[in-house]
Amino acid sequence: MKVKMTLVILALIVLGCGNEPPINKGLVKYTMEDSELLLLTKNDKGIGPIKELELAPLNSIMVRDGETVFRAKCSACHRIGQRFIGPDVTGLLDRRTPEWIMNMILNPEQMIQENVQARKLLMEYGAPMGNQSLTEGQARLVLEYFRSIN
Ligand code: HEC
Repeated sequence: MKVKMTLVILALIVLGCGNEPPINKGLVKYTMEDSELLLLTKNDKGIGPIKELELAPLNSIMVRDGETVFRAKCSACHRIGQRFIGPDVTGLLDRRTPEWIMNMILNPEQMIQENVQARKLLMEYGAPMGNQSLTEGQARLVLEYFRSIN
């Protein structure tokens, strides 16, 4: 919030000077939205049962089992390396926290309602992510699979 305010004030000062070429005004606007998004995404653990998650080094047995769960429960809508009914699931860990990913799997109804990032996705894809009734253990396996293809 503080950063956002600072940026707004900065932008006002820059715009207030009046002698900036129009292209720079565009740049100021872009930087504001970008840093806001980055801040949100980096700290956003989402809403749901997973509050804090420590990731150990990748476990190949969990990856294998996670891929099985993914093929059975998720591949109807998600593809590797391409957008489908849902988003591409490669690079997920670069744009979301592990907690957010697991909460999105376990609690999509509330996430779509109350989480800014999930709402944005819903607007972009026009279809809600359905609850696949995974157990926490299964969701953790899928997360391990997502890490392996990140
Ligand atoms: C019926 C289609 C459907 C199924 C089945 C489905 N999803 Fe989704 N998923 C979506 C859609 C559509 C979105 C984006 C819009 C939204 O969030 O409502 C999404 C979003 C996501 C996101 C957020 C992606 C991002 O870019 O941040 C994750 C993570 C995810 N799904 C994981 C899963 C997992 C894991 C499964 C299997 C357990 C699964 N999904 C099953 C349709 C589906």
